[in-house]
Amino acid sequence: LENGSLSIIVLGASGDLAKKKTFPALFNLYRQGFLLPEEVHIFGYARTKISDDELRNRIHGYLVSDKGASPKDVEDVTNFLQLIKYVSGSYDGEEGFRLLDKEISDNEISKNSAEGSSRRLFYLALPPSVYPSVCRMIRHYCMNRSDLGGWTRIVVEKPFGKDLDSAEQLSNQIGELFEESQIYRIDHYLGKELVQNLLVLRFANRFFLPLWNRDNIENVQIVFREDFGTEGRGGYFDEYGIIRDIIQNHLLQVLCLVAMEKPISLKPEHIRDEKVKVLQSVMPIKDDEVVLGQYDGYTDDPTVPDHSNTPTFSTVILRIHNERWEGVPFILKAGKALNSRKAEIRVQFKDVPGDIFKCKKQGRNEFVIRLQPSEAMYMKLTVKQPGLEMSTVQSELDLSYGQRYQGVTIPEAYERLILDTIRGDQQHFVRRDELKAAWEIFTPLLHRIDNGEVKPLPYQPGSRGPAEADALLEKVGYVQTHGY
Ligand code: BG6
Repeated sequence: LENGSLSIIVLGASGDLAKKKTFPALFNLYRQGFLLPEEVHIFGYARTKISDDELRNRIHGYLVSDKGASPKDVEDVTNFLQLIKYVSGSYDGEEGFRLLDKEISDNEISKNSAEGSSRRLFYLALPPSVYPSVCRMIRHYCMNRSDLGGWTRIVVEKPFGKDLDSAEQLSNQIGELFEESQIYRIDHYLGKELVQNLLVLRFANRFFLPLWNRDNIENVQIVFREDFGTEGRGGYFDEYGIIRDIIQNHLLQVLCLVAMEKPISLKPEHIRDEKVKVLQSVMPIKDDEVVLGQYDGYTDDPTVPDHSNTPTFSTVILRIHNERWEGVPFILKAGKALNSRKAEIRVQFKDVPGDIFKCKKQGRNEFVIRLQPSEAMYMKLTVKQPGLEMSTVQSELDLSYGQRYQGVTIPEAYERLILDTIRGDQQHFVRRDELKAAWEIFTPLLHRIDNGEVKPLPYQPGSRGPAEADALLEKVGYVQTHGY
């Protein structure tokens, strides 16, 4: 990391995201020595009028679990919290931002060394409706000090708009104030260990190179399930629905990494160039290749309208129109209140031609990458059943991280991504043209849902989702394999 003063400003400091994700991620970076106390200053900014200590108390409980806190944990927490100052102000008035700038500058002056610089990272843990005004205030009143050099960067969270037009409008507004190289659009799925592993797996292993195409792969599934509903977030969720909440961003980003061509190099722009090409090659979604669902009881939430048409489940087939993937369905599936919590990528290979073992009905070869829980990747393959008989059975080559990398702590997605923002590495962030292409894919379908032209099917909480989704999978050629 560069030398000099680093100020991290968390806007929306008293909100849920800041408490649950941003501050804990900063704490972990601090503990591991990435945020050195003599250089870093952390500020919380929000409208609520509270003191530094009140903010610290609010954050405290989220940093380490009370049960497992060792004396070292307690000491680290105390020291970390001392780094945090709080400034209150509105999101559209200059007064608060002038004050914030003064606080930041004072620290830069008092602590800066001769070769120091003024580095300012603004983390917008805020609803997108205030992004434009907050960005304007930062641009006008809180930029890094030009006499010291350094940089100003802003980090924004989804939802970036609700459809293509609103997203473009937001991008234009922010784009007038900051260069693309200063804007970090977080999609936390890009910070997950096994998502970050995808490029290595695909491009550093001879095994996969010749097989990763339409000649060998029958279909690809990218699945997200949660075993709880919208609990406490009904108001937010109902405005967006599962496609905007999970599929258009998290699952589509994973799809890009599974489907993209090899980048020229690992430079962020080269990687993002290839991702954009995949998105731009996705064909319009067909009406009969979508299933929507809404779990029974969803509208009981008082913040959800009684006749809500918002899907809490969706299976969507995407088709990539290029030489590698023509004819291979990419099945994106996400749901709340299902039977399990899991996120995985399932690559199903074609049947072996000329099946002399008559093992076809045992299932196909599959390569599964489990993002969570319990990170793992495994290959389902057919082997001889051990013993005297010549029969076959489905088995696995299994790389479960818990076993293979015992004692290795896998960092939280937010931890990695925040570190990237400090280092200035945009590889794992969504570029403006990626965002646009992602909205282009889903906007027609989303408008049809918003207009009530397509309705979600009911499903039981704790189930697999509507049965129609399984039927769609079968229709596009997915074959359930046995075993694992
Ligand atoms: C968020 C969604 O982006 O991702 C939530 O808004 C969802 O609805 C969450 O619960 C899932 O994240 P993870 O890391 O737990 O899979």
